[in-house]
Amino acid sequence: MSQTAPASASSAPTTRERLFTGIQPSGASHLGNYLGAQQNYVALQDRYESIYGIVDYHALTTVHDGETLRSLTHEMVLDMLAVGLDPDRCAIVRQSDLPEHAELCWIFDTVVPVSWVERNPTYKAALAEGKENSAGLLNYPVLQAADIVIYKATVVPVGKDQDAHLELSREIVRAFNRRYGEIFPEPRAAYTDAPIVMGTDGTRKMGKSAGNTIPIFAEPDEIRRLVMSMVTDPQRIKRTDPGRPEVCNVCQLHRFFGGDYLQIQDGERTARTGCVETKQLLAERIIEFFRPMREQRLRLAADARVVEETLGAGRDKVRPILDATMAEVRAAVGIGPRREV
Ligand code: TYM
Repeated sequence: MSQTAPASASSAPTTRERLFTGIQPSGASHLGNYLGAQQNYVALQDRYESIYGIVDYHALTTVHDGETLRSLTHEMVLDMLAVGLDPDRCAIVRQSDLPEHAELCWIFDTVVPVSWVERNPTYKAALAEGKENSAGLLNYPVLQAADIVIYKATVVPVGKDQDAHLELSREIVRAFNRRYGEIFPEPRAAYTDAPIVMGTDGTRKMGKSAGNTIPIFAEPDEIRRLVMSMVTDPQRIKRTDPGRPEVCNVCQLHRFFGGDYLQIQDGERTARTGCVETKQLLAERIIEFFRPMREQRLRLAADARVVEETLGAGRDKVRPILDATMAEVRAAVGIGPRREV
């Protein structure tokens, strides 16, 4: 554990604010996950008492095959370790190992007006696109609120696409506390400096279910293929046409992979450089950036026990925190045995 100060009779125990965040095991980690969130998971793991959830209950809303989900969950633990989370300094947990997340979600469901979940943008978008609209998808942000506050976490590193969900989490906390007393603190988001990362199609956010991602641990040739397929400035048709780096996704991503991105953007703007070479350079930089993590991931994957050991240690670490919250909640709402007077 990272509380390094030696315990002595005179020193007060140091308490750090608690951090919780979740990532769905619905596909491989991609550039949006990394730039929007995972880099912050790592940067913040020592500053806070940190818990990272592989949220497989959430992924059930989109992954409908049992073996696939189990395998994606396993792979996501390897991703989390490879990007730099250290299970000795944080807890990495599988949401379904702690079914109280779902219990608290149900309790919150009895507090949340239906209109609050119906206005959730992810649900509205799914409806508009004619996708599956299960009650699980409608309730998705309620489970997310439960994930966070079951640990009384106040800091939530997420990408900026999660803004509406975090706002709803705070509203749920306020509604619950109004009814049952001040049990939960209000969580706040911790963002990286990345905007919402757009997908290779250039029109939608990069997302596991949209099929427009650049997976950070893909084979180098696959990364090259995907970067070369990226949509750039649609108005730049000929090599000699000046480009608009502000609308070109490739130029925007260069910001995160080298200190010379202003020159690169200038090259596009003046047509000094072409889209093909700007893409080739980006692909090589992405591959180089993730190379050490990729190598670490291969080493980790070779040890068949590492994933379940990580999850077992995480579960043991968080269980007392979650048990304490649930005892308080059950007592407040009136479920479970009558308390002795
Ligand atoms: P998920 O798995 O979709 O994404 C995991 C994290 O990656 C961020 N992210 C992005 N950031 C910028 N640009 C993108 N294109 C992009 N795509 C993904 C997400 O913001 C997220 O931080 N609802 C959550 C899962 C969740 C959760 C929680 C998060 C469940 N319970 C409790 C925080 C706290 C999600 O969409 O994950």
